[in-house]
Amino acid sequence: MIIRRATIEDLDDIWQLANESFAPSPWPKEVFEHELGSPRSIYFVTTGGFLGATQILDEVEVGSLGVSPKFQHQGIGEALLMAVFALPKTKRVLLEVASTNTAAQALYHKVGFQPYYRREKYYKNGDDAIMMERKID
Ligand SMILES: CC(C)(COP(=O)(O)OP(=O)(O)OC[C@H]1O[C@@H](n2cnc3c(N)ncnc32)[C@H](O)[C@@H]1OP(=O)(O)O)[C@@H](O)C(=O)NCCC(=O)NCCS
Repeated sequence: MIIRRATIEDLDDIWQLANESFAPSPWPKEVFEHELGSPRSIYFVTTGGFLGATQILDEVEVGSLGVSPKFQHQGIGEALLMAVFALPKTKRVLLEVASTNTAAQALYHKVGFQPYYRREKYYKNGDDAIMMERKID
């Protein structure tokens, strides 16, 4: 599996992957376009999956992670998170996940994330958000 940093050239592929993994409601394409053009954003892409994050000093916040259904259960999500953990200067990785998204929570627990706060009714559908962090030694 080859994981590489994405650029604006990858916009169409990432948008396609977002549509497949977040159906029926991915973010608008303009959001990915804006983020891929922003110097604070870090996107990784591989065949079947992508991850988008923002780095501020030694903290990285993962804003999106999607693996297309036909590529799931092959270790792609885990490998994309490992790429984040390996970013220089990173001491803490943060993300939020819907309380009903048990697949993503299982993945995050497996790679060492721990919950630190619950935001009630955070999502439009009424789901709570679980805020999770992973410290890097
Ligand atoms: C969550 C998601 C990114 C996982 O990607 P993936 O590439 O299939 O995950 P991996 O193959 O790397 O799985 C690694 C571990 O995560 C856990 N896991 C992943 N999918 C799981 C599922 N459906 N049920 C239970 N555990 C799961 C397992 O512990 C797995 O380890 P194992 O294979 O040794 O059992 C993927 O299902 C996805 O894109 N879902 C839709 C979008 C989404 O929810 N994104 C996250 C938003 S916060």
